[in-house]
Amino acid sequence: TGKRPSAATLVAWQRTHGRHALPWQRTRDPYRVWLSEIMLQQTQVATVLGYYERFLLRFPDVRSLAAAPQDEVLALWSGLGYYSRARNLHACARAVIEHHGGSFPNSSAALAKLPGIGRSTAAAIAAFCFGERTAILDGNVKRVLTRALGFGDDLAEAAHERRLWQHAEALLPKTGIEAYTQGLMDLGATVCTVRRPACDACPWSNCCVARAEGRPEAYPVKTRK
Ligand code: ADE
Repeated sequence: TGKRPSAATLVAWQRTHGRHALPWQRTRDPYRVWLSEIMLQQTQVATVLGYYERFLLRFPDVRSLAAAPQDEVLALWSGLGYYSRARNLHACARAVIEHHGGSFPNSSAALAKLPGIGRSTAAAIAAFCFGERTAILDGNVKRVLTRALGFGDDLAEAAHERRLWQHAEALLPKTGIEAYTQGLMDLGATVCTVRRPACDACPWSNCCVARAEGRPEAYPVKTRK
């Protein structure tokens, strides 16, 4: 297609067509944003909403979470699955109290050193809470970017995944990192879906290599091992 995906186009799309009313979008409190990002890692928004609300009623801040017995954290997590998330959550709260004086660190690099916070989650928290200009690359965003770019190399290879991270960084907007980051998530969740993506509704349809090839579902490429 010759055109490269425009960050400004995605920012404008997010502001008119993206999601704005989710509870964790109404705050810049790193504790709340962190909790939402961990819950959303393997769970749909509709399911997370109730858990998020109950969790915050019982544990309104990182100190109350750190002070709780692990059993109680796991009980509130019950039904969400992937329980290592809950154990890491508890360990992370305790690390924030013990090593950071009770405040989450304010950079993605420092956040990524905490239990259960990987590079993409750290970047999402830093973008939403601190406006840090840094790239995310979770499962949905891998799908969006490999399709838009026609990136055909298997991400199971570390070198290929590193190269996609570099593309993700090169695409970042000069301003509006919050809307851009949310826009990538919204695009992956509502338009650039695994099956039957709604390309007609996509702000990047005119530059998307996968669409031009007529096979958006072929990305991300998974080669047999
Ligand atoms: N999935 C992961 N992070 C999300 C967010 N901030 N909003 C909606 N869905 C998400």
